[in-house]
Amino acid sequence: MQNRHKTIVVIGTGGTIAGTAASAADHTGYTAAQINVAQLLAAVPTLSGQPLEVLQLAQVDSKDMDFGVWRALALAVDQAVARPEVAGVVITHGTDTLEETAWFLQAVLAPAKPVVLTAAMRPSTALSADGPQNLADAVAVAAWPQARGVVAVLAGRVHGAADVRKAHTYRVDAFDSGDAGPVALVEEGRLRILRPWPQGPATGVQSLLALEPTAWPWVEIVTSGAGAQARAVQALVRAGVRGLVVAGTGNGTIHSALESALTEAQGQGVTVWRASRCGMGPVLGDHPRGWPSAGSFTPAKARVALMLELMRA
Ligand code: SIN
Repeated sequence: MQNRHKTIVVIGTGGTIAGTAASAADHTGYTAAQINVAQLLAAVPTLSGQPLEVLQLAQVDSKDMDFGVWRALALAVDQAVARPEVAGVVITHGTDTLEETAWFLQAVLAPAKPVVLTAAMRPSTALSADGPQNLADAVAVAAWPQARGVVAVLAGRVHGAADVRKAHTYRVDAFDSGDAGPVALVEEGRLRILRPWPQGPATGVQSLLALEPTAWPWVEIVTSGAGAQARAVQALVRAGVRGLVVAGTGNGTIHSALESALTEAQGQGVTVWRASRCGMGPVLGDHPRGWPSAGSFTPAKARVALMLELMRA
């Protein structure tokens, strides 16, 4: 049974879920991050029995998410989950960088309580607004005693932080978990568990939050493909990049021009990781240069993981 008597802390950060458009038929020409999280909750009358606490931490289109917001968010979540009367946390977010925020929070905090990111593909003014149901489902997961760690809840599915990715530009069910599949479904406010709950790292690295975001290591993604240019990597190295994730072709393979430039970059102290631009599947096997595989992480998520790795070094 759900933790109906315990508090859920709901943190707003913006996104399409908080977006508005001039017309209810407009699904693309809206402005994200316009209404506050208390207004979002007011659109979900089914939550009336649940003790909720509201914090408007940011109001951004998540394409503009930055490390200052990430640090403030991680500190707010950490404080919330430490309180005995709090069952879990819900974060309203934009869909565009949700997968990155999810992994950042999981890696840094490894929370023992549920921390549930939710979002919407349609603005709050749309005829088919998906925000209210997603928010109701997110609160149900945050109040579920067996839930733990960072997950994302959208379109009735619960995705683990390591697996979740935005896989479609427009559809309401835009998110998936790659080969891992969703952890659970939310049906009428109850969870149907499909696979063991993801474990994530055993301990977080909260100490990293002491570092000013301006000092966080700079990591970029370079994409391999036909006609790939060494000079893209060379320019990044000259500008001071500390880590590069290659969004490689297929199983993380890299154009020879790019590979030479990356070898030089490594010689100058830049850390190189390999991911795939395929969108699904792991990068398997070793690379002759020893560049580690980012496993099944999307390039966007691998970039966050490499940044955290460099912060720990
Ligand atoms: C955003 O990511 O903030 C805008 C797009 C969205 O939420 O769907």
